[in-house]
Amino acid sequence: MAEAKRVLAALAPDVELEDALFGAEAIRAVGEPLPAETLAACLAADAVLKAPIGDPEFDAAEVRPEQGLLRLRAELDVYANLRPSVADGVDVLIVRELVGGLYFGARGTRDDGTVYDTCEYTPAQVERLVRRGFEYARGRSRRLASVDKANVLETSRLWRRTVDAVAPDYPDVAAEHVLVDNAAMQLAVAPGQFDVIVTENMFGDILSDLAAAVTGGLGLAGSASLGDGGPGIFEPVHGSAPDLVGRGIANPTGMLRATALLLEYGLGEPDAAHTLDEAIGTAFRETPTPDLGGRATTREFGDRVVAGLSGST
Ligand code: IPM
Ligand code: MN
Repeated sequence: MAEAKRVLAALAPDVELEDALFGAEAIRAVGEPLPAETLAACLAADAVLKAPIGDPEFDAAEVRPEQGLLRLRAELDVYANLRPSVADGVDVLIVRELVGGLYFGARGTRDDGTVYDTCEYTPAQVERLVRRGFEYARGRSRRLASVDKANVLETSRLWRRTVDAVAPDYPDVAAEHVLVDNAAMQLAVAPGQFDVIVTENMFGDILSDLAAAVTGGLGLAGSASLGDGGPGIFEPVHGSAPDLVGRGIANPTGMLRATALLLEYGLGEPDAAHTLDEAIGTAFRETPTPDLGGRATTREFGDRVVAGLSGST
């Protein structure tokens, strides 16, 4: 986050940055992962830049950092989660439904010890996400893969019906259905075949890690979570890396790419986003961090990115 803030200050000096407590730090300070002041600040902002979340200290606790994230996504109703993965010969955009499904259905434990999580979707929830997917496909290579498990799940059958019902409104987009197990295999062996993928929350969570892994690594992926007009949330696809804390070697690229997405989708500054993406690419080649086989610290990588910004603006 420190590097992202420096980059944002350099690229968009007029942006007012306000820090807010969230996740594990917030639980430690005030007992809850999404304090009311933080939620209010997010609702009042033009965009939310979120640091990686998670702390093993709370893995088995009642109150966990991730609960704050799910609540923030729901409160801002950012139902469309864009997860781009780009590498040689691969340019896939996963559009993951973010505020429904297993993440938000009823869950609990019955008297006999049975534990359950429920997957529910309303037709409207599916339709708004699917339409977003078609819109994005329209602006790209005009191919849409809808990923489901319609051979087993009722929610997936609704998903499939919805795609079929919406498809005639986008005759210029070639839509296909892919079962999620097959989609995972295809992403692993031939990711270049995909353009836009639309899928429900849980499948999207899993497939986006896979897509990131086959295009350079989870540490490099950023994401944008968007609703209809309100502030979006911009965050890395990955969570925190407790083993790297305090060592100064974390690769900040996930955060920096989230910052580029913030510039593009949150602040309407696509040129600044492009400048940042280019500067990240240069830093990759010239100042790689240890995970990329280099020796740069987080700060040195950030320095190179910041230097690259002024070079091209
Ligand atoms: C992600 C993360 C989150 C998710 C966790 C931290 C709750 O894995 O953004 O992909 O599952 O959505
Ligand atoms: Mn995830």
